[in-house]
Amino acid sequence: MKQAVARAAIAHIVEGQVVGVGTGSTANFFIDELALLGQRIRGAVASSEATRRRLEGHGIRVLDLNEVDRLPVYVDGADEINPSLQMIKGGGGALTREKIVAAVAEKFVCIADQSKLVAVLGHFPLPVEVIPMAVNHVRRELARFGGEPIVRDRCTTDNGNLIIDVHGLEIADAAALESGINQIVGVVTNGLFARRPADVCLLATAAGVQTKIAG
Ligand code: 5RP
Repeated sequence: MKQAVARAAIAHIVEGQVVGVGTGSTANFFIDELALLGQRIRGAVASSEATRRRLEGHGIRVLDLNEVDRLPVYVDGADEINPSLQMIKGGGGALTREKIVAAVAEKFVCIADQSKLVAVLGHFPLPVEVIPMAVNHVRRELARFGGEPIVRDRCTTDNGNLIIDVHGLEIADAAALESGINQIVGVVTNGLFARRPADVCLLATAAGVQTKIAG
């Protein structure tokens, strides 16, 4: 299923341009498909060190985001996605770089299997990237939002920070929660992609790949 959506995402690539590439097992399938395009893309911007290594392993040129004027498309997976195409991301710990690349991209194509589609976000624990010296402060502040914040074991992000996963949230207003958590001093960013949701979701189902747009 992951390979099917990865393959379908290739149709969204703009030839001769740079593509933004996400992180995770679904994004890995996409990288493998991207490699088949050879010189038809100018290169890629990676959302994590793991993705950079996989792209380079395939001989795909990896550019720094600051070298790029235009990023027509960003392709990435999600941990949860709702019918408005708002997402929880960061299960793989790459949420901050993913959010930066997504902010630059003109189009966000989410690739996911059916199990990721939910009516209400929050069953998947919400990742929050935190500056290490602030971790206890942020944990106390996050508890005010109603969930149970747990520091992720043995996890240091590509940016040298920690992750707190907030369990047990039922997220009624994802955009408000995204902004609210980002106001806590010491938070780098959180895994809600609500203010910048996906533009298209390619969803793998037993009946084939479905294309969903926000609705
Ligand atoms: C990584 C992410 C991934 O997109 C998310 O965890 C989904 O991963 P997978 O495709 O392996 O299910 O946000 O930080």
